[in-house]
Amino acid sequence: VWSQVPQAPEDAIFKLTYAYKADQYDRKVNLGVGAYRDDDGKPWVLPSVKQAQTALIADESVDHEYLSITGLAEFTSSAAKLILGGDSAAIAEKRVASVQTISGTGANHLGAVFLSRFYGFEKFGVERQIYISNPTWANHKAIFNSVGIKPVDYPYYDPKTIALDFEGFTNTLRSAKNQSIFLLHACAHNPTGVDPTPEQWQQIADIFVEKGHFAFFDCAYQGFASGDLDRDAGAVRHFVARKSIPLLICQSFAKNAGLYGERVGALHVVSATPEQSAAVLSQLAVIQRSEISNPPAFGARVVKMILTEPKLYAQWQADVKKMAGRIIDMRQRLFDLLTKQLKTPGNWDHILKQIGMFTFLGLDTDQCKRLLEEGHIYLTANSRISMAGLTTKNVEYVAGWIDKVVRE
Ligand code: LMR
Repeated sequence: VWSQVPQAPEDAIFKLTYAYKADQYDRKVNLGVGAYRDDDGKPWVLPSVKQAQTALIADESVDHEYLSITGLAEFTSSAAKLILGGDSAAIAEKRVASVQTISGTGANHLGAVFLSRFYGFEKFGVERQIYISNPTWANHKAIFNSVGIKPVDYPYYDPKTIALDFEGFTNTLRSAKNQSIFLLHACAHNPTGVDPTPEQWQQIADIFVEKGHFAFFDCAYQGFASGDLDRDAGAVRHFVARKSIPLLICQSFAKNAGLYGERVGALHVVSATPEQSAAVLSQLAVIQRSEISNPPAFGARVVKMILTEPKLYAQWQADVKKMAGRIIDMRQRLFDLLTKQLKTPGNWDHILKQIGMFTFLGLDTDQCKRLLEEGHIYLTANSRISMAGLTTKNVEYVAGWIDKVVRE
């Protein structure tokens, strides 16, 4: 019965993790998946998370009943405050519909399904499509294709300058039909680590206002860009403050709380009025019910405790700073090794300039292939490396291999 089913290609990111695990070479390095590691290359359970989960496990009043369809209310409301700010007018005016999701992927998917059902493609005379940055997180295309919204690239990264193609990006924003949908990475762009400056974000927002575009924000790295949770929410908060920009935000706690496997996330849809917001929430609940019924409880309870108990929140802020700080140190070390010690040909300033979990090295596919096959250094074929996979113990080895493939 399945003779017609063709073999699908492996996932571009997770296949690296599987291959890394199977590799017997003792100096192998996993710079593939974007997951934080400590300086021993080990997963790190954040102290704030440890404290919250210990308290939860000890609490005999915690049961295993279903959450409501839209999730744990105290989690979604505190998650909304985290991204929009405690003083957000949109929250005070009850214009934010928040739903707990299966991490960031679930938020992207729920947002995509919602748009596919309710966005006024026909009314506005726009194609059923979403503009996504070139490049973007590999899963974005799959998510939108799966709901019948065609992903279309907009220029974002200029390989010549290894930096933002601001002109190409803003030209596309201007030339797209009014009321087009654009996916924006809220901070720490995946895979390039290249973000617009605050001034550029303002100019981008101006064009959104002018054109009536819809902003589909993906926020998977709040805290990882600067180490400061509020600062990393700057672009989203600026857009929300420009009241006329219709938008939604996909939020993940995989990276900034280290809760990769717990799948904790939220979707926040900001509407023009509280009435619209209530209707939006009711429809999100209908979609959610048919897809997952209700979201998982444990991770959301952990995050809710961290976000609502001041002592835990302070610990979490310190944890996030620590992760961001270690990544910044690794940027400096890799840069110093390449430029001062090895004197590797080329300009490596982008290692310091890029932001967040990833560096886009700017190597070609053959060079990446050699790093992987000969160096046992696992990275995606577009030369993205997860900086969190570098440690004081392996950074020299990695720099040595980068130097080798650049020279030979
Ligand atoms: C990544 O980009 O490596 C992470 O976001 C993991 C994933 O789900 O792809």
